[in-house]
Amino acid sequence: MKSIIILATTVASSYARAQYQVSDPHEWIAGGADDFRGPCPMMNTLANHGFLPRDGRNITRDNAIAALKNGLNFNATLGGIMWEQAIIANPEPNATFFTLDHLNVHNVLEHDASLSRTDAAFGNNHVFNQTVFDVSRKWWTDETITAEQLVHSKIYRQLESRATNPNYTFSASTEQFSIGEVAAPVIVFGDLDAVTVQRNLVEFFFENEKLPTELGWSKKADEITLDIILAMSDAIRNATSLLTGAPATAPDSPHRRDLHAGLVATLKRSTRT
Ligand code: HEM
Ligand SMILES: [Mg+2]
Repeated sequence: MKSIIILATTVASSYARAQYQVSDPHEWIAGGADDFRGPCPMMNTLANHGFLPRDGRNITRDNAIAALKNGLNFNATLGGIMWEQAIIANPEPNATFFTLDHLNVHNVLEHDASLSRTDAAFGNNHVFNQTVFDVSRKWWTDETITAEQLVHSKIYRQLESRATNPNYTFSASTEQFSIGEVAAPVIVFGDLDAVTVQRNLVEFFFENEKLPTELGWSKKADEITLDIILAMSDAIRNATSLLTGAPATAPDSPHRRDLHAGLVATLKRSTRT
């Protein structure tokens, strides 16, 4: 009897050890007090899963390429380009790495009107802010979010920021960066053909800075390439226009149709004389 108990204990403890040894190196662990985190929900996520250094430091080109490849299946060329665009965050000349803290400097890469962080003028520009995020996600009215709904969040946040933040800054290059950020959830979690994404995946990701594996997500089987990023960014850019086509049934009255056109023509004539 005693030997059976000893055997059972030995088996149980070696099983526990084996479990420990094979435990997932990409298990999600929130950053600790000494770890750097930044304004990018995905860079934080990759650090929380150990695809990037968990302390948020030493993001070399190789580390970024490996993290984006292993965590999200971005191809190496794309990973390299993204790192090159971000290395300016480290102010040291010829820097070979950046940290997540470097990303926090306002108006270098971090910008106003973020979807999930408040403007630097109002407080912490890099920690997830539920109040701000709730403003953004109220436009995601269906279980499947469209490019248009994502863009509503972007436009609304910019409008709110411009109307209330005396330091509101949003240059043409910020716009390009911002379009890429709005496209990002579709690229990683969504349907590339339909340009849509499941709302629950996006909300889970932003709110937990965790890959939504437990909701059934897995990284795309086909590598994400620069062409995919450009195509998704184009779709988002197109969705930022607030114009529509002409109404399907234009009113017949020539007066109504010509009212403003006539006014514009008159103004043009009067400025010429
Ligand atoms: C080298 C890789 C990357 C770098 C250096 C980077 C850097 C940044 C920075 C500095 C911001 C802050 C901009 C702001 O003020 O809102 C940001 C935002 C964002 N990033 Fe990244 N990022 C990277 C990759 C990715 C990837 C692969 C995704 C995919 C999901 C992603 C998703 C986002 C999103 C959704 C935002 C907007 C957050 C918000 O508006 O609250 N990023 N990123
Ligand atoms: Mg910001």
